[in-house]
Amino acid sequence: MEEYRGICRAHTNIALIKYWGKRDDELILPMNSNLSLTLDRFYSETQVRFSKDIVEDCFQLDGEWQDNSEVEKISRFVDLFRQLAQVDLACEVISYNHVPTAAGLASSASAFAALAGACNQALRLDLDPLALSRLARRGSGSATRSIFGGFVEWEKGSGDHDSQAVPFDDANWDVGMVVLTLNTKKKAISSRRGMKHTVATSPFYQLWPQVSEEKLLEMKAAIKARDLDWMGEIAESHAMLMHATTLSANPAFTYLEAESLKAIEAVKGLRQQGYKAYFTMDAGPNVKILCPYSQSQAIIDALAPEFGADRLIASRPGPGIQYLEALPDHQ
Ligand code: ADP
Ligand code: DP6
Ligand code: CO
Repeated sequence: MEEYRGICRAHTNIALIKYWGKRDDELILPMNSNLSLTLDRFYSETQVRFSKDIVEDCFQLDGEWQDNSEVEKISRFVDLFRQLAQVDLACEVISYNHVPTAAGLASSASAFAALAGACNQALRLDLDPLALSRLARRGSGSATRSIFGGFVEWEKGSGDHDSQAVPFDDANWDVGMVVLTLNTKKKAISSRRGMKHTVATSPFYQLWPQVSEEKLLEMKAAIKARDLDWMGEIAESHAMLMHATTLSANPAFTYLEAESLKAIEAVKGLRQQGYKAYFTMDAGPNVKILCPYSQSQAIIDALAPEFGADRLIASRPGPGIQYLEALPDHQ
């Protein structure tokens, strides 16, 4: 029986300089270059099988078979690999998220990086990490960066052939993130729809590409200097610039919730107590706190009375994609 199988794990990443807005919806080319930190604690594990015995593409996530619209997204993405390999077989995709799905914790990043890796292995394409990063991009922009570990830059490039991620710093020093999960429900407005609406209607958006490129340069200098206070100041300001573009869209919307604002105040309070703690937020209400990893337990202890210890998770920097022999048990 002709069967091709691949299994891959990819970690999520959280942007310190955000990708927000596409200049090409089909190819997923970003308006601005951007930069993230891959996280050790959150990841997706995905298996893909191509076989004559599979009648049509199907997709199971966390034990549940997904509907047509979800399968279609997977099919279109896998088509890119089928074309490269000149293979015309239907596939079965089975994936498990060790991260809340569609809650602003970058499940689409780990998802499409893992699926790209799994297809690469299954179809024996032997693609190098840069090529894989360009293909992961076609599934979800943030997935471009999840091919690599540590601090990763997604260079906006001039087109499909060079819009890809490159490792920037291995983050093998005292840095990490505390993730405060305030609400893990699926967001009402996906990242894709939110950024498209923002680009189309916010009069402030025209400032975004240029300001983001400037902040990216500064962020790179701050990371090289391993200056967490400097990195944190830039990250906070860039995150709020992004949220200002959604608040100024028409109709306006926001991913911030009441508890997110409380958390932001709490992070500022931590700084007054001497912690190096800085917030960032993505397309969802959850708050991520950039800090030295060595301070993360103390930060959790300080925030636990207000937010609950079970909602606070410390993460070290994570690795790039990993090919697996078998899909781990998910009982
Ligand atoms: P997030 O903030 O989690 O990245 P997005 O709106 O960007 O939210 O993307 C969420 C979507 O990504 C889901 O609705 C689903 O279509 C897709 N997705 C999430 N996890 C997986 C997975 N493991 N495999 C395939 N697709 C996934
Ligand atoms: C706010 O990569 O999820 O998290 O490319 O449409 O799939 P699509 O969107 P996605 O957007 C991520 C937006 C962000 C910022 C970031 O991760 O850089
Ligand atoms: Co996403």
